[in-house]
Amino acid sequence: MKIFAHRGYSGKYPENTMAAFQAAAKLPIFGVELDVHLTKDNQIVVIHDETINRTSNGSGFVKDLTLEELRRYDFGSWFGEEFSGEKIPTLSEVLELFCKTKIMVNIELKSDIFVYAGLEEKVLREVEAYGMEDQVIISSFDHEAVRRIAHIDPNVENAALFANMILNVVNYQKEIPAKALHVALPTAVRKSVLEAIQQNSIVRVYTVNEIEHAEILLNIGVDAIFTDEPEKMLNFMKQRNQ
Ligand code: G3P
Ligand code: MG
Repeated sequence: MKIFAHRGYSGKYPENTMAAFQAAAKLPIFGVELDVHLTKDNQIVVIHDETINRTSNGSGFVKDLTLEELRRYDFGSWFGEEFSGEKIPTLSEVLELFCKTKIMVNIELKSDIFVYAGLEEKVLREVEAYGMEDQVIISSFDHEAVRRIAHIDPNVENAALFANMILNVVNYQKEIPAKALHVALPTAVRKSVLEAIQQNSIVRVYTVNEIEHAEILLNIGVDAIFTDEPEKMLNFMKQRNQ
């Protein structure tokens, strides 16, 4: 079972910041996950929420602020004073870091609330600029965006994210089409997901921070987990000789 550091090493560092990504890049993990939005001036930035309220000392929607405006805020001190001065990263900055490693980068398109016109094309262009077409997975809760990724570049790995349970998930996956299913922890042991695994669908599960849950997921054969605690999960997998 592969380990993805969720929003970077977000258990110990402020999520989706270079500090969290640099810490993740030092670990023997399979992948890292991050979330992207578009700024007012159409720049791709790495942040989870639609607003900067929770993870910075500023406020407002990402879509209403320019990159220059966003860069003025501190995205570290909400998590700990030692991280004060962390800036919001651009997607390029994060790709620049990981293109020098073998770590897969899961880019989650956060277009499930606001429409970010052209986000798929823009992300793919940046990925190509770093020659990382084989080193990324592009996922979203917005399955139209997942479908557009398949249409623009069928070779790039795409994945459909699910917050809730879905029936006939394998048929649905084919219809998008998506190469993998990223499912929420409470739905991972449902019959439809177990059937998907039996039918060789790649299933990855978020967000898994407890060993007890990792143990169950290892036994049912999920491909990977997203965790805020990558070192803890790496140790668990080492103990299982996996
Ligand atoms: O991509 C897996 C996971 O990050 C999806 O949920 O809300 O943490 O972005 P969220
Ligand atoms: Mg995410």
